[in-house]
Amino acid sequence: MRISIFGLGYVGAVSLACLARDGHQVIGSDIDQAKLELIRSGRTPVVEEGMVDLMASVAASGRVTVTTDTARAVHGSDLSLICVGTPSAANGSQDQSAVLRLTEALGRAMREKREPHVFVFRSTLVPGTVEEVLTPILERESGKTRGVDFDVCFQPEFLREGSSIRDYDRPPFTVVGARSEAGAARLKELFGHLPCEFIVTSIRAAETVKYCCNNFHAVKITFANETARLCEALGVDPFQVMDLVCRDRSLNISPAYLKPGFAFGGSCLPKDLRATMHLAKTRDVELPMLGSVLQSNRVHADRAIAKVLASGRRRVGMIGLSFKTGTDDLRESPLVLLAEQFIGKGLSLLVYDPEVHLSRLIGANRRFIESHLPHIASLMRADIESVIAESDVLVVGINDAGTLEAVARHARADQLVIDLVKLPQREALRGQVEGLCW
Ligand SMILES: NC(=O)c1ccc[n+]([C@@H]2O[C@H](COP(=O)([O-])OP(=O)(O)OC[C@H]3O[C@@H](n4cnc5c(N)ncnc54)[C@H](O)[C@@H]3O)[C@@H](O)[C@H]2O)c1
Repeated sequence: MRISIFGLGYVGAVSLACLARDGHQVIGSDIDQAKLELIRSGRTPVVEEGMVDLMASVAASGRVTVTTDTARAVHGSDLSLICVGTPSAANGSQDQSAVLRLTEALGRAMREKREPHVFVFRSTLVPGTVEEVLTPILERESGKTRGVDFDVCFQPEFLREGSSIRDYDRPPFTVVGARSEAGAARLKELFGHLPCEFIVTSIRAAETVKYCCNNFHAVKITFANETARLCEALGVDPFQVMDLVCRDRSLNISPAYLKPGFAFGGSCLPKDLRATMHLAKTRDVELPMLGSVLQSNRVHADRAIAKVLASGRRRVGMIGLSFKTGTDDLRESPLVLLAEQFIGKGLSLLVYDPEVHLSRLIGANRRFIESHLPHIASLMRADIESVIAESDVLVVGINDAGTLEAVARHARADQLVIDLVKLPQREALRGQVEGLCW
């Protein structure tokens, strides 16, 4: 394929070298003349393992040319990879000046081009940029239409500096955000051979996943480092501890606990987090990330409360009270917090939970509910039908099949259903369903 690459920093230069190695004709473009000179003479503009040899060999192959002329690069290629920098501005926002300026030039170049073209943005871009900002610029400057005269895709780059050639050849996955099959198909020709999944999604999801991955990496590093600071104060080897943490591939290093849902609760996580924070305080160890987890959890629960209050409906039916489906443990259940708040705001409340039988609650579980919801007995019903029948807004907080079936059977068209569990077949449900944040 004939490919133009704009921005020859870490991402662009490595892509140029690898694509030329794989037999493609590549035109590199950058505003920095010094980088172009280096590439033209077979030298690498970035310090990366393997790049010295690779650049020398692809330059000798004759498949690499360089130019500062944007139009020439667009006209001489079928597909463009846009890899210019998108650094932080002083206020933390993304400085998009380079990509905006370049996109205007790409659009102007497209005005004169008769053949179709695919523009693939690979720079990290805040979600919405490609569809709301860059595509309109391309259409305005070219006088042409996306999906007719040219295609636009977003393909996040996952390579890491220091191992970028290896990462280019073995990415965790290839994610392509595309509005048309044609654009995605061209990228499959280029990257479909890589030993990983090739996933086509919406442009916005592709833009977002890049941020999520980097944020997740940052959270993981900070978690390991906060753990290490606490371990040091406790005289425990942090490497041993984190190694053990990572050996659990079922709950720790796995998709477990990584699905959006309602706030956490129960008899372990909140209590152990609090104990950890207390321990850290007594040892003068600062753990800002772990210290903010309970607060974030509370913000999540508050969102459900706000949705019910905003509805203006005063008869609330809660489906579920325990902290997790399939248990009767009410200790620190966020659903109990919701019930407390609804009562405090003067709403009328009825509760159904198939696992919670007040007469059978014992020990700490019983004491917890008696102190938080002393009148719980008058609010609980043994049948879900009457809770649904006597409510204007339903809050669904558990998701066992029998309960969800009953909700689907009895919910009325005039009811608001606040979904805390990501209800399956939500569209089949009577009533107006509102997800917590989905
Ligand atoms: N560095 C990484 O490991 C990495 C990994 C994944 C994603 N990314 C993302 O990829 C993008 C590029 O990152 P990078 O580290 O390669 O950046 P970089 O700063 O090393 O390189 C950017 C290049 O773009 C050039 N440029 C600026 N304006 C231009 C224009 N109008 N026309 C042509 N070239 C222009 C600059 O001269 C520079 O050479 C960023 O959005 C970054 O967030 C980087």
